[in-house]
Amino acid sequence: MAAFARTAGCFAAMASTTTLVGCSRPRPASGQFGFPQGVASADPLPDAVVLWTRVEPEAAGTDSVELRVQVARDSEFSDVILEQAVLAERSFDFTVRCFTAGLESDRSYHYRFLAPDSSASRVGRTRTAPSEDADRPLTVAVCSCQHYEEGLFSAYRRLLLDDEQAADDRRIDLVVHVGDFIYEAGNRRPLVSLDGEEIDLRNADGSPRIVAALPSRGPVGPMGEQLVAESLDDYRELYKIYLLDPDLQDARAAFPFVCIWDDHEFHNDAWQSYHPGGPSQRRKMDSNQAWFEYIPAALGSNPVPGNPARDFSPAEVSDVELEGFDDNYLSREPNNLAAIGTLSIYRSLRWGRMAELLLVDGRSYRGPRGVDASIPGGEFLTREPVPAALVATQNAGRTANGGNPPETVSLGGEELPNSRRDSPAGSLLGAGQKQWLTESLQASESRWKVICNDVPLMRFGFDMSFRDYGSHDDLWWTDAWDGYPLERRELMTFIANEGITNTVSLTGDRHAHFAGVVFDDFDSDSPRAVLAEFAGSSICSGPRLKNQSNGTQAVPRLNGLVRLDGSRFGYPRAIMPALNAWLLFGAEAAATLGETGDEQAAMQQAVDAVNPHLRYADTDGVGYVVVRFADDGVSAEFVTVGEPIVHPGSDGPAVWRRVRFAVPAWSAGEEPGLEYAGMEGETPLMGLKV
Ligand SMILES: [Fe+2]
Repeated sequence: MAAFARTAGCFAAMASTTTLVGCSRPRPASGQFGFPQGVASADPLPDAVVLWTRVEPEAAGTDSVELRVQVARDSEFSDVILEQAVLAERSFDFTVRCFTAGLESDRSYHYRFLAPDSSASRVGRTRTAPSEDADRPLTVAVCSCQHYEEGLFSAYRRLLLDDEQAADDRRIDLVVHVGDFIYEAGNRRPLVSLDGEEIDLRNADGSPRIVAALPSRGPVGPMGEQLVAESLDDYRELYKIYLLDPDLQDARAAFPFVCIWDDHEFHNDAWQSYHPGGPSQRRKMDSNQAWFEYIPAALGSNPVPGNPARDFSPAEVSDVELEGFDDNYLSREPNNLAAIGTLSIYRSLRWGRMAELLLVDGRSYRGPRGVDASIPGGEFLTREPVPAALVATQNAGRTANGGNPPETVSLGGEELPNSRRDSPAGSLLGAGQKQWLTESLQASESRWKVICNDVPLMRFGFDMSFRDYGSHDDLWWTDAWDGYPLERRELMTFIANEGITNTVSLTGDRHAHFAGVVFDDFDSDSPRAVLAEFAGSSICSGPRLKNQSNGTQAVPRLNGLVRLDGSRFGYPRAIMPALNAWLLFGAEAAATLGETGDEQAAMQQAVDAVNPHLRYADTDGVGYVVVRFADDGVSAEFVTVGEPIVHPGSDGPAVWRRVRFAVPAWSAGEEPGLEYAGMEGETPLMGLKV
């Protein structure tokens, strides 16, 4: 472990120089100081872990508060093994990150923070990673997408309650959060449930669950304009509100979190410092700073070769049009480079010999997706799925067709100008990160190489063959790797050709559960499966079925492939997903299901060529995935709960279903297998291909 420097907002010390101070006696948190956002721990190493809190000084005008952090072997703090000073500064919104070293490997600890008047934070629990040569299995919960105003965070309560019941060797070691920890926009009302009912979403204390104001915009009424974070204080305010939630706060206090961001920590569908509202380098930097303040992570002291990761350092940036794109679609505009350069979060984390987590930043270095804004609806979501060939052509930019890109691309029988003829090929990772990822995969001696990704690698082909110009695998969700097919093929081919085995991708983003394998080339007639992927649903952001069905209301033919009227056929809910069937079995199967409610009749229409790599699609609930990495294989349990819009009570939300898969370890020359391993609860409607 490299020596820790004194870093922003934190006195850190090497273990050998850490001074043990006689155990300070805490008082309950009342009076001058409070810890309203709780505590958190992150990124455990065998001998160290990052500890976090935010203190709220009562007195205005205070610029810093000297806290003490205590780490103990027991929850009563009778066996305090470490106590050290941590400075909370106004310049970081009184948040602190403390790299606490000198711990024993593979054991749990309790920690808390003490204010100068000895008032104490709540107690958190964390655990260190096993030693580098240990073979201990790793169990993680994969979480993502928690829009405060779209639901309660009660999926975390399910996770906490289940974990209390779990056998010792099955307990959660880490929460891997793959992004959308906050959403930059608020106050979307009215909120409508999956079943079409208007919801008055409230917190447990009865208060409206809404971001009613942001510092730069002031309060607006519940039906007023949409609030969008525009400043550092706005982003901070969102984290502060989200972290008041008791389910999220309890989860952060119970498990170490390992976090990456997706787009909404900055802005919807973000890439570099691009923002559809105009140049936004300052906003990108502000969102980076707020993430640094509120999401603890081992960055600057994590010695990853080639990773410029460091602690946050603000830069002087102006909002300037993005220009000067290099061959990797990186804008060399100095303010863009400075803004994205303020914080680098891609990094790796080892769990003994069992697993290496490769944590990816899928936003800061990516270029625009392979569907241009000139394609109808291309800026965000095309009106309907578009041909994979169109995306591939635009993604390849000036390198398409061997460097001779076509003048036009065809869509729906029309020829549209190919606006990417002179553009670089699109990259999702950017050159530096791609080099780091490929080198890390190649060098890793861990049993499991775990790519933690903000967006899915798998292709989601939509069967549009009922249109005379459509195909079995038109693309819709091009903000994920489906919008960057060239680099996906490059990365997957590299893994396959290098003989890198036992690789798994964990991801989220789609507000639905999916399990499948990722091919080296989805357009090949004989693709190789390269790795297995588990994409977990959202903690509470609108379930995919709801979002997709809202988006297709104006196109009845598509809407009928997304949803069906469950009340007609005696299904448990009024709106049920045809979308599972569309993705797993094709358009005719989905249409037949919607018309007849007869799954067997629908299966008669199934088309094998539709997403042959996809095994499981579960689009109407929310939840998380628990994934266990052991020597002989990986097991995954997808936990689905209903849309969390009603308080579940102390027993936590009811589980709709638990669906299990296993991936046995494989050797060079073999391909990954993805085995269905059973389920409990209500079967996902045509959601399994087994
Ligand atoms: Fe999301």
